[in-house]
Amino acid sequence: MDNSLEKSTILIVDDEKINLDLISILLSNRGFGTLIASSAEEGLALIEREKPELAIIDYMMPGMDGFVALKEVRRRFPDTYVIMFTGKGSEEIAVELMKAGASDYILKPFVNKDLLDRVRKVLTIRKVELENRDLLQERENLLREIALWNRELDRRVKEKSEELKRAQAEIIQSEKLSSLAFFSAGMAHEIRNPLNSISLFVQLIESGLEDPEKIEYSEKIFKEIARIDRILRNLLDSVKRPRFELKEVRIDQVINNTLDFLKSLIEMHKVEVKRDFRRIPPAIQADPLEVEQLFSNLFVNAIDEMHNGGTLKVFLDHDNKNIQINISDTGKGIPLENLDKIFDPFFTTKKIGTGLGLSVVFRIIKTYNGNIKVSNEHGKGALFCVSLPLSDSNPL
Ligand SMILES: Nc1ncnc2c1ncn2[C@@H]1O[C@H](COP(=O)(O)OP(=O)(O)OP(=O)(O)O)[C@@H](O)[C@H]1O
Ligand SMILES: [Mg+2]
Repeated sequence: MDNSLEKSTILIVDDEKINLDLISILLSNRGFGTLIASSAEEGLALIEREKPELAIIDYMMPGMDGFVALKEVRRRFPDTYVIMFTGKGSEEIAVELMKAGASDYILKPFVNKDLLDRVRKVLTIRKVELENRDLLQERENLLREIALWNRELDRRVKEKSEELKRAQAEIIQSEKLSSLAFFSAGMAHEIRNPLNSISLFVQLIESGLEDPEKIEYSEKIFKEIARIDRILRNLLDSVKRPRFELKEVRIDQVINNTLDFLKSLIEMHKVEVKRDFRRIPPAIQADPLEVEQLFSNLFVNAIDEMHNGGTLKVFLDHDNKNIQINISDTGKGIPLENLDKIFDPFFTTKKIGTGLGLSVVFRIIKTYNGNIKVSNEHGKGALFCVSLPLSDSNPL
């Protein structure tokens, strides 16, 4: 038996004084606190003031009857449980009372032990139910608190992601600046050679030469100037747009646009283009002009290698993480000793090349967390395999 139940306060509402006294004595003898009221109105006022755990209410009372009182208690004071007294032979009424929210009923005249048993039983049920309710309430509070924390966490994650994006943009910006410095140093080196030649030719012309020789040296001077001009133009191309312009970019469309743009060069070299687009990848977030430049540089290199016709193959596919683009040609391929040099700025094997094309390609691919691999196709030509991550893992 739960001893804490005896600390409960019980209100008895009955218009018969003898009943009030009897029950009151019976309950206080067992340690319960008791309150008495001789009418329903008085009882309700007491409940409001004293908040007893239990009310035992007589069904038959003048004024407000027990049934109305029961409903009032259940409505206004749900923590006060109710046991009803009914006269013998009114079992149907008892059923109605239970439906209206009574926890139990006792038939008059009652047996002391029976009354005590029922009081204890209802108080036990009340205790369990209220504890349950408190637990549910606590659970609800916890869930609400968790939801609040989740929202706060979401907000912080968003805030941090924004910060990260800004920091990343700054890193990319500063990487571009440092690559600019790197390019500038290389460029100074590259330009010094043609400048030396120019100054040599000018000195030769000044030393008094025959006209045909003058013409020959003037032409050489123009050639060197043209070379400097090309270097500068390429360099400007690679750094002139320091700010990203991010858009939804469809790689298949960029490839098609770039090939269209190079149409006359392709025709001039009698190159046949074969597209093998297996699956069209979803759009990625990228700077469209940068991606176009990446493909343009690779295509031009391939076309450059095929002087008397050949095939330029473009393979496109993707899985759920990466887009794969393979570009191959039927040129003479890349000598093994050059394979690890071709991405270096200013490395070129061409008379009029600047050697910046592939270094720009490399930088762009790195910006998008992608990678590029190069190999020779069984001595037939070069194969460049580019992989770019799908948007989740894009840098910005
Ligand atoms: N498809 C290819 N087949 C054979 N060699 C290649 C191919 N692509 C690049 N290369 C080699 O890599 C070198 C570097 O290429 P990159 O594009 O960086 O400069 P470039 O083409 O020489 O000069 P520019 O791009 O200014 O015209 C080339 O000079 C060439 O030797
Ligand atoms: Mg090139």
